[in-house]
Order: sequence, then C-alpha cells, then structure tokens
Amino acid sequence: MSVKTDLYLFGVTGRMGIEISTLLHGHPTATLIGGTSSKGSYGDISAADVLIDFSVIGAIPTILHLATSMEKPLIIGTTGLTKEHVKEIEQASTSIPILQASNTSFGVAVAARLAQLAAQLLDETYDVEIVEAHHRNKLDAPSGTSVSLGKAVAKGRGRTLDALMADMDRSGRRQEGQIGFSVQRGGGVVGDHIIRFMGDDEIVEVAHRGLSRRLFARGAVKAALWLKEQPAGLYTMQNALGLE
Ligand SMILES: NC(=O)c1ccc[n+]([C@@H]2O[C@H](COP(=O)([O-])OP(=O)(O)OC[C@H]3O[C@@H](n4cnc5c(N)ncnc54)[C@H](OP(=O)(O)O)[C@@H]3O)[C@@H](O)[C@H]2O)c1
Repeated sequence: MSVKTDLYLFGVTGRMGIEISTLLHGHPTATLIGGTSSKGSYGDISAADVLIDFSVIGAIPTILHLATSMEKPLIIGTTGLTKEHVKEIEQASTSIPILQASNTSFGVAVAARLAQLAAQLLDETYDVEIVEAHHRNKLDAPSGTSVSLGKAVAKGRGRTLDALMADMDRSGRRQEGQIGFSVQRGGGVVGDHIIRFMGDDEIVEVAHRGLSRRLFARGAVKAALWLKEQPAGLYTMQNALGLE
C-alpha cells in the first residue's frame, strides 16, 4: 500500500499549477497523479486522494460537482469567488471536506491573526486601510487575501466585513469604522499586503510580502495532506496550520 498522498490539480498549466508541480517533483509524501487546464478534459480523478484547484472561478461549479460526486477532499485556492460560489461551497462541504483559502501561505495566516488582534486593541478612531499590490495579470480586485484580512479586522471589532467595507469609490469624507481597500496592479509582484491602522498621531501596520509563489504551493500541499484526514466540513488555512 502506498504511503504517499495522490493529488490531482485543476489549473496544472498555470503559474500556481507549475509551482505546485515543481514542488511535488520528488516530494517525500505527495505525488501529482494528474491535472487539467482549460484545454483538456477532466480525465479520471478516481485514484486521487485530494483535489487541488488553482484555476478560474468559471470552473468552480464543475469542480464542486466532480469532487462531491467522487467524494474527494478539495482545496480551493482560486480567488474572486462570488457570494453564489460561497453558497455552493458551503453546500458541498456538508458531504466532503473542503478547505477554501484565498491565500495558502503560513505568513498570511499569521498576519490575519495579528490584524484581528490589532483591531481588538485599537478603537475605531484608527481608520483601517488594506493596501495590496499584485502582478499585472491578476484578474480579481481587491484580492481574495485582502478580503480575508478585512474579515479578520472586522472580526476583531466584533462586526462583519459586509457591514464595514468602504465603497471602492473613495470620493467623499471617510466614515468612521469603515475598512477601505487600496489596489495596485503591475509588474511581477507576487503579493504584498499591508493592513494600516491610521490614528491621528500614529500609524500601526501589519505587513506581509510574498517573495515567490513557492510559499503558496508549500501551504497548499501541506493543507492537502491535512485535509485528507478530515471529515466533511468547511475548513480554513488557520485550521490546517493549527492556528485556530
Ligand atoms: N490561494 C492562494 O494562495 C493563491 C495564490 C496565487 C494565486 N491564487 C489564485 O489561483 C488562481 C490561479 O492563479 P494563477 O496565477 O496560477 O493563474 P493562471 O496562471 O492564469 O492559471 C490558470 C490555470 O487555470 C486553467 N484553467 C482555465 N480554465 C479552466 C477550466 N475551465 N478548468 C480547469 N482549468 C482551467 C488554465 O489553463 P490554460 O493554461 O489552458 O489557460 C491554467 O492552468 C487565481 O484565481 C489566483 O488568484 C491563489
């Protein structure tokens, strides 16, 4: 019996797909047994222990259908999910384990905890702005990571992001308590996020900078190995990394 975990990758030809394939080459405990892109058919995923998705949001309904019908644990790394996707993911997670993470790096999970704590300790006179930069090819804005960080800040204030998120049109005076998002796109930036708490006389910042996509690949594989052993349910990177 193989002790290795067999993984199947949606988006195998993409930037993240290549990073994960490279990481899995010669990996001691996980093997990539197949994958697909926009061109190929999904093929046989029956031998996989865990499915990993880093593709496009348009593929999410099909991937959820495949994962639930084959009863396979699923990591969703694709970002830009709509409320409808979130509902579909919640529904699917009643029958299979799903880990959904807009950022699979350990450092961002830690940054989210720090931001939550800062939001608890600093009152609402500190205006919160989440500033992010990503490469020119990124499709969604603000990034899924920024939204997750915004949720962590809102949680620290005992509120929801829906209640606090500032309009992306930032004209007009800033409303107290609102969480704003500033987006930069360009070059080859892997992913920079700064959560700024701006008071009248000081600024507190929690920052994370990705230096290579390998950090997302490492986190996704680690999460897959963890998810294989979990019962049906919806999980986060915080769960997989033992931070929650
Ligand atoms: N969670 C995280 O930590 C994290 C980190 C980085 C990126 N991301 C997200 O992961 C996603 C992929 O990022 P990326 O930079 O790798 O994008 P990318 O380079 O554009 O790659 C997208 C991949 O999806 C494939 N694809 C397109 N349509 C598909 C379909 N219908 N079914 C299956 N595969 C399909 C593409 O195939 P073709 O080559 O045939 O077009 C390609 O392999 C994005 O949503 C990104 O924001 C998440």
